[in-house]
Amino acid sequence: MTIKAVRGTRDLLPPETALWNRVEQTAREVFALYNFAEIRTPIFEDTQLFARGVGEATDIVSKEMYTWEDRARAQSEKAQSLTLRPENTAGVVRAYIEHKLWERPGLQKLYYIGPQFRRERPQKGRYRQFYQIGAEVIGPPAAGSESPARDAEVLEMLVTLLNRLSIKDWTLELNSVGSPSSRQVFNQALQKALSGAVERMCVDCQRRAVTNPLRVFDCKVPEDQPIINTLPRISGFLDEADRKHFVEVQAILKATGVPFIINDRLVRGLDYYTRTAFEFTQGSLGAQNAILGGGRYDGLSEALGGPRAPGIGFAIGEDRFVMALAAGSETGIPDSAAQAYIAPLGEGMNVPAAKLAREMRSAGVQVQLGDESFRLKKSFETAEKLGIGKVVIVGENEVASDQFAVKDLKSGEQQKVDRAQLRTWINYFVWLFQERDSSGSATPASYGLPSPTITGCRKDKFVCFVIR
Ligand code: HAM
Repeated sequence: MTIKAVRGTRDLLPPETALWNRVEQTAREVFALYNFAEIRTPIFEDTQLFARGVGEATDIVSKEMYTWEDRARAQSEKAQSLTLRPENTAGVVRAYIEHKLWERPGLQKLYYIGPQFRRERPQKGRYRQFYQIGAEVIGPPAAGSESPARDAEVLEMLVTLLNRLSIKDWTLELNSVGSPSSRQVFNQALQKALSGAVERMCVDCQRRAVTNPLRVFDCKVPEDQPIINTLPRISGFLDEADRKHFVEVQAILKATGVPFIINDRLVRGLDYYTRTAFEFTQGSLGAQNAILGGGRYDGLSEALGGPRAPGIGFAIGEDRFVMALAAGSETGIPDSAAQAYIAPLGEGMNVPAAKLAREMRSAGVQVQLGDESFRLKKSFETAEKLGIGKVVIVGENEVASDQFAVKDLKSGEQQKVDRAQLRTWINYFVWLFQERDSSGSATPASYGLPSPTITGCRKDKFVCFVIR
């Protein structure tokens, strides 16, 4: 029996991994512009961190965590309940507390990229091991951590990232879930309203009404919607400070040209949120259309035994970002990036090919190196499949006489070049690649190279390298 990847996990293969790298690289560049720095926390943590941080009553903690009892290996060790992280905010706040990051000047602006684990029912866009790119802004109130300007800045940064990646057709949904005191009053009103209606709702809602009434707003069951529409909304229960905070977030978003819609039904699946909560959805993704989510968590540090440290952050579902990117791009997944193909043909040609490849690569050309056992035809076919038009051939004689030949795959023309000119030629290739001159308007002459001598194509032992 063959062994397969575990349900809900998957292998990410080339060429798609190029898209993942592009997303991560672009995120790093954008985060740097906003002065964020990277944090890497462990992939597993003490189970208590999530129970206290994310909340016992959440779906994530109550039924989706990968938790195990870690045995003690020595008398000095204790057995401990450990959990694969289902999200990274709790880990970041734990690290903030553990390393007393509040003693560092100003706000901590931290980002992370990595796998998270939730035992959810797998479907398109929903996995048990998935990847998040997230960021958190956290610090003492005196450093400005509570300011609505931080919320707006984080949202505006996300729009910059979406634009840089050319992800279109997104919607930013915004809500304020209030401070704990507003929410307490709201929860009472909600429970009261639910008490008369909950028997007519789905089993999930009946459970939520008891454990986590706010989550009733997440229900997607069509028959429940008319009832949910009659329930009170948090927007009617915000206190003056919450309301003012939310109005200021919106004012900055408007001023910076960030489009959003208010959704006063928006609730999040983690208990730590206070005030601003948001989600970005994307049109091409179907049921799992939330490409990222986040919000403010002003009480999380204290809930984990730390000092007062309001914060705001988000996590992008990288799997979904990549899906949106692949769906939205005309070219789809990029081809192999190799710029040159070196095919050593015939016995003994691996050695000069390796030397040429080294020279090419040190000059910055991306080289795919073949093997001397391959036939010339196979090399040309490979070159053509990769969309490569020009072939540079170094035959056995040429190697001996320090020469090589350049062949144009389209016209079939071939020219000899002295090895002394190799460096110039390599520079020419690099220039070609860097200029991305696929139109072919650049010629050796336009690069100050001598005009070529055309010779016949030799089919005995030779090294060829193929360039785009
Ligand atoms: P979350 O809404 O649970 O928030 O997850 C953020 C994003 O991760 C979702 O919008 C979705 O794109 C992606 N995601 C979640 N579960 C899965 C899954 N099973 N498969 C694929 N993608 C998934 C958080 O995790 C918070 N820690 C965000 C945050 C940071 N809030 C404040 N700071």
